[in-house]
Amino acid sequence: QKSIAVLTSGGDAPGMNAAVRAVVRAGINKGMRVYGVYRGYNGLLNGDVQEMNLRSVSDIIGFGGTMLYTARSEEFATPAGIKKAADFCRSIDVSGVVVIGGDGSFKGARALTNAGINCIGIPGTIDNDIACSEYTVGFDTAMNTALQMVDRIRDTAQSHDRCSIVEVMGRRCGDIALQTGIATGATAILVPEIPYNIERDVIQRIVNTQKTGKKHFIIVVAEGVGKVAELANYIENRLGIETRATILGHVQRGGSPTLRDRVVASEMGFRAVELLEKNLGNRVVAMKDGKIIDLDINEALDMQRVFDEDLYKIAMTISI
Ligand code: F6P
Repeated sequence: QKSIAVLTSGGDAPGMNAAVRAVVRAGINKGMRVYGVYRGYNGLLNGDVQEMNLRSVSDIIGFGGTMLYTARSEEFATPAGIKKAADFCRSIDVSGVVVIGGDGSFKGARALTNAGINCIGIPGTIDNDIACSEYTVGFDTAMNTALQMVDRIRDTAQSHDRCSIVEVMGRRCGDIALQTGIATGATAILVPEIPYNIERDVIQRIVNTQKTGKKHFIIVVAEGVGKVAELANYIENRLGIETRATILGHVQRGGSPTLRDRVVASEMGFRAVELLEKNLGNRVVAMKDGKIIDLDINEALDMQRVFDEDLYKIAMTISI
């Protein structure tokens, strides 16, 4: 009987549980033994694994976080750590591992495959910052949470005729900011991918909007740009508009996954098991043109992200 394992690694993301469930159920239905590995790669170093059955993953599809816990493992990222993890897999006869996480986790998956254990990566992060995939599990839920939060901030900004600056997550990626900014009609959106000039891209936009009679403003800033408190001071001093800054932070990482995250996670989990069934390793499951695909992990890690500048231009044209 073929044995495989599944782990979640790096920052958690809503929908990771749905992916774990898909891997467990698909694997068992294909006649495999499936282990859940706890706390990312650390579970392979400490032998912290548990054999799963069909009921082990009951009801988790709607839960945020990850039932397998997660970690960013430093020990694993050494040659000795990788050997130890591969040896442990061999000791329990595990020939393949599904790794759900970001590109740091994919590098681990590549190292483990090269040490003899086939690994398949599934993009799981709220940031949508994995170049090979136009979508990462968790992104939709995080955006929808950010959307709700900004809508709430707008209520109070509007009541007080204020400017509200909201910092959203995304590491070095501006996708959450761009989408949330469009969906909330933000007067300005600052992302790390597009250099900005504070006078032209923030002050002037507020002034132009003010001229049309509007008195409250939302500015969405990606965390990769940061400095929201400074920006608030700048706007207040420069324009005399009362300004508040809010950093949304980890609220964006939690919560029940949206339909999209549950479905994409399920499809990706299933594909990962199909690849392991064919004894393939060093591959990443991804989305391209809305379809689930898989590609070589080296190719995936070499790709550069492309920011959607057209969408950014649309946002800048219609939010006034
Ligand atoms: O990668 C997900 C993410 O939430 C990023 O958006 C953010 O930069 C980072 O993780 C925060 O990391 P931590 O949870 O370790 O504070």
